[in-house]
Amino acid sequence: MAQKKNRIMADIVALCKRRGIIFQSSEIYGGVASTFDYGPLGVELKRNLRDLWWREMVQLRPDVEGIDTAILMHPKVWVASGHVDEFVDPLVECKQCHRRFKADELKSTEQCPVCGTKDSFTEERLFHLMFQTFVGPVQSEENIAYLRPETAQGIYLNFENVRAPSRQKIPFGIAQIGKAFRNEITPGNFIFRTREFEQMEMQFFVHPSEAEKWYEYWKDQRRLWYESLGFRMENLTFHDHEKLAHYARAAVDIEYEFPFGRSELEGIHNRGDFDLSRHQKYSGKSFEYFDQARDERYIPHVIETSGGVDRCLLAILVDAYVQEPEAAGKDKLRTVLKLHPKLAPLKVGIFPLVNRDGMPEIARNIEMELRRHFMVFYDDGGSIGRRYRRQDEAGTPFCVTVDGQTIEDGTVTIRERDTMVQVRVSIDRIQEMVEKYTRDWQRDKGLLGGE
Ligand code: GAP
Repeated sequence: MAQKKNRIMADIVALCKRRGIIFQSSEIYGGVASTFDYGPLGVELKRNLRDLWWREMVQLRPDVEGIDTAILMHPKVWVASGHVDEFVDPLVECKQCHRRFKADELKSTEQCPVCGTKDSFTEERLFHLMFQTFVGPVQSEENIAYLRPETAQGIYLNFENVRAPSRQKIPFGIAQIGKAFRNEITPGNFIFRTREFEQMEMQFFVHPSEAEKWYEYWKDQRRLWYESLGFRMENLTFHDHEKLAHYARAAVDIEYEFPFGRSELEGIHNRGDFDLSRHQKYSGKSFEYFDQARDERYIPHVIETSGGVDRCLLAILVDAYVQEPEAAGKDKLRTVLKLHPKLAPLKVGIFPLVNRDGMPEIARNIEMELRRHFMVFYDDGGSIGRRYRRQDEAGTPFCVTVDGQTIEDGTVTIRERDTMVQVRVSIDRIQEMVEKYTRDWQRDKGLLGGE
């Protein structure tokens, strides 16, 4: 079982490389541990994921505004936030094999899990997770800056800058998607834990008496979002924290059943007034809000939803990855990414059956027409079967083939990724069919069977 799960991760990593989704960074120089580059299909997939989050969390909500803040911030921010003092992991090193571990993640402090040596660990020491750099030409103490380890702080600092021009009243939220950096001791599991990653965070500012109500509300909203992405919901768990971070009053992790074990995908936190009070104290600027409706002045409390783009993307890939018979009763397997069509990097593969008799010209015309609406891929290489397999692996929901009959009556075959059902439709219906399918898609249910 464990071997099969390891193989699934290795297969997904290999598929990502083969299909141009994700590659090892700086590969030609031997790679940099746990940093990755997104290829042509990877950027589309990631962009679709970000856009869906942004649409749901910002554009469809009158009570949430968007923001994009700088990665480099005033160093005092990280003193106020508690990161300078608290953002540390306890580190131990095996004196025999020199592998480093987070002490609180070791099953046994007596035996090294890599080389098996007993009593080989060094004393625990605290390791700081923030990347440090210097701003300006002089590398001195007063020029120290940090690469932000979370996007949340940029939101808190701009609470009033956003609230006033957008004329928001409490309760309201501010959302941001952006890069964050952590010098993790034990990065790994492909894009699950890396040193450079992207976060999608939203901070919702509320009256203190309503914090618990909004915390529950956001737990429900986030569950609905994962459902809307087509996740197999039996793979998601909501796990309440018993041990809370320094800033939190209540916290829940949304966890996903990855092949390497159940692990955090997103955190939802009731942060109380910790963040705004700390920035008020350290900056000397008031974060008090005057609530006209209540005729009351207070520091808003914060409910945070904080997820990783890359980590969510890995869960999407794992959830969509299927190996199944190429046809009923056949032993040969096909690999297919059964992605929700709205996430799929390509929506349609377009193939001329042969590279003559006017078929490439018609196929190119279809490509150029559809390109105005979706990402599509023109492929005239190899047998139709091979072309289908390539698009199955890329998660492309539809393939369109131009054949001899197209020239006679303007129809093409359209094949559905999930069921492999094929029907003939006229060229001018392709766009409408893809749009309907994307709207109505349900896992393991076909559309074309009923056509
Ligand atoms: N502002 C709160 C915060 O940053 P967190 O639990 O430390 O909370 C939130 O991080 C999310 O960011 C995680 O649930 C995860 O999805 C993502 N994340 C954190 N560290 C990561 C890493 N090293 N690599 C990839 N994603 C990471």
